[in-house]
Amino acid sequence: MVNFKEKIAEKLEKIVNIDKKELLNYIEVPKDNKNGDYSFPCFKLAKELKKAPQVIAEEIKEKIDLVGTGMEKVEVIGGFLNFFISKSEFTQEVLNEITSKEEYGRAKIGEGRNIVVDYSAPNIAKPFHIGHLRSTVIGGALSNIYKFLGYNVTGVNHIGDYGTQFGKLIEGYKLWGDEYDIDSDPINELTKIYVRINNLCKEDEKVLEACRNNFKLLEDGDEYCTKLWERFKNVSLKEFQRVYDLLGSKFESWNGEAFYSDKMQEVVELLEKAGKLTDSQGAKIVDLSDVGIDTPCIIIKSNGSTTYATRDLAAILYRARTYDFEKALYVTSYEQILHFKQVFATAKYLGLDKKYIDGLIHVPFGMVLLPEGKMSTREGNIIKLEDLLNEAIERAKAIIEQKNPDLDNKEETAKKVGVGAIIFNDLSNNRVKDEIFDWDNILNFQGETGPYIQYTYVRIKSVLEKAGEIPNANEINVEKLNDDYSQEVLKLIYNFQDILVAVTEKEEPSILSRYLIDLSKAYSSFYNENKIMVGDEELKNARIILSYATAKVLKEGTKLLGMEMPDKM
Ligand code: ARG
Repeated sequence: MVNFKEKIAEKLEKIVNIDKKELLNYIEVPKDNKNGDYSFPCFKLAKELKKAPQVIAEEIKEKIDLVGTGMEKVEVIGGFLNFFISKSEFTQEVLNEITSKEEYGRAKIGEGRNIVVDYSAPNIAKPFHIGHLRSTVIGGALSNIYKFLGYNVTGVNHIGDYGTQFGKLIEGYKLWGDEYDIDSDPINELTKIYVRINNLCKEDEKVLEACRNNFKLLEDGDEYCTKLWERFKNVSLKEFQRVYDLLGSKFESWNGEAFYSDKMQEVVELLEKAGKLTDSQGAKIVDLSDVGIDTPCIIIKSNGSTTYATRDLAAILYRARTYDFEKALYVTSYEQILHFKQVFATAKYLGLDKKYIDGLIHVPFGMVLLPEGKMSTREGNIIKLEDLLNEAIERAKAIIEQKNPDLDNKEETAKKVGVGAIIFNDLSNNRVKDEIFDWDNILNFQGETGPYIQYTYVRIKSVLEKAGEIPNANEINVEKLNDDYSQEVLKLIYNFQDILVAVTEKEEPSILSRYLIDLSKAYSSFYNENKIMVGDEELKNARIILSYATAKVLKEGTKLLGMEMPDKM
């Protein structure tokens, strides 16, 4: 699509002595469209040219030729040059672009650039909880958007399948395995074993010793321990998969923590070689106080075992070598901010090229709060994700039953609406903000929700169905879309790709969610003001094509967020 801002910059470049790239940073989109569609503040030039900004603006106005820029006029207000786009040129351009592209907004910006997104990462033998949902949803959206912009993305599910807790689980299983029906309800039963053995460990030092020994045996490849561990892992993954199926999540790699079991020795050696590994009460640590981090990074515990951080360091080495990443994103709750600070600071001593260190990015997100408070394992009010998703589907079904009892395939629609509502809710605010989980908000068809966007889409679909054929963009009288409501919708549609780029600049999918709400609202205003099925054939066709274009962006955008669109609801 024509980049109008760039066209202006090209013309300005010929007049003022600043290169296009820099000019692009200066050109603004005025808040009030009375001041045009683009604005160039001349204050920056005043000092250099020793002239008042207003005078400079006037001079540029005299010299600039607007041919080919899509601008119809330029005005000077104060020290600003305000450019006004030609509505018909703009409309034609947007409509041509959106109707000619199968996937509107797809780009090649990321060609040849590699991104690793580490997300979801539940822990085996533990419930897949609502924090992992946020990671799955945010990481999934980011990875979809990067892919759409042409990046080569490796989504990694860094499963928590390693560590001393498995020594405990093995011990518990040895003691009471046959009391529990692990196959029928794996994670619940394993959790029970885990809680029970943990309590026993507190009472009996010898049991704790046995647990540690089990983990050591597991690390050394003992057959019995390995077999059990594999079983725990398989049953857990099977259960997780049910959640991933509901969410439609897919990963390129499932290398979890255990994958690095034979790759940590190198981390120890490299840190040793760098002279960074010090002994502290029997443990091996990296002191980070010189870089302003008070807590050291523990590499080897006093009992000889490795840590979560050691595995993350091994993963950095592996990912740099295997994926040659430009960015490696880690999507976890903000509770792990310190962990990643430590790991990234320690990674500097692994001898990797600096570009890899610079590419390490923690993408933290806020907690999910129940109206009663934080959801946590310790307080026992943990909500299982699968139950949550199923409840969302049930609730959506009840709403549909009430609003549209005759709808065909209610089940499928309820799934799209219920799951979509949960996904959208997780993405609708700035990710670091804590989120209050409230069913009524999440499923409100009139609120700023997933169902509201779906509802807008479905409404358009029914308009299009009545209209029959979608007119050809070249045969539209674009003047018919000169009104403010239509122009507002078109502007948003025009911005779609920029929005996606902004998401990748801030690792913030809520930029896209907000945009989709804005677009839905703008369309609703358009729809309320403008009748579509009017007698004036040209007007009708123009409005139909605008509706079609909106639906296309809403569908594309929600798909990138990980949602599915119903055709009716
Ligand atoms: N399994 C961890 C947890 O549940 C998240 C792992 C995040 N990724 C990583 N490379 N550390 O908290």
